[in-house]
Amino acid sequence: MSEITLDLRRIPKDRAYAQLHAHVIGVLRGIDDDIAAMATMSSLIHNAFGHLWTGFYRVVGPQLLRVGPYQGTVGCLEIAFGRGVCGTAAAERRTIVVPDVDRFPGHIACDARSKSEIVVPVFDRQDALIAVLDIDSDRRATFDQADADGIAPIMQWFAGLGRD
Ligand code: SME
Repeated sequence: MSEITLDLRRIPKDRAYAQLHAHVIGVLRGIDDDIAAMATMSSLIHNAFGHLWTGFYRVVGPQLLRVGPYQGTVGCLEIAFGRGVCGTAAAERRTIVVPDVDRFPGHIACDARSKSEIVVPVFDRQDALIAVLDIDSDRRATFDQADADGIAPIMQWFAGLGRD
């Protein structure tokens, strides 16, 4: 199974995400299960870029996120809307790129090695927020607009788009 994971660290981000997207579509072909997709995407993204932490927080209540499938050290279990980067991205339904977590007021440190972060909201077919994808790096300024632009189309899988 190991041949399924990619190493995209030495490829320009736009091409890396396009390659990753095509790979996600292929690996998930015929699957219509959000948890299986979250687990598979976490592994593919994590192994492709070698980040510190890669995973999903799922909406489990009106104002509550709970950790879902992820790769990396133990993640915080629950985050309220409006708290930390994940809770803020959920409450505002927008992608947040954090070049330096020490400069983000209210950042929640699940792993002290985390230095920069990106959080992307995930919507279903009815445009309801179902989760956020959270990626942490142990280096500052790892993420930028190219990551936001590359990840967004992959997350459209959950809205039934971009599956072939
Ligand atoms: N840092 C996140 C919390 C989740 S951990 O990074 C896995 C935040 O501030 O929301």
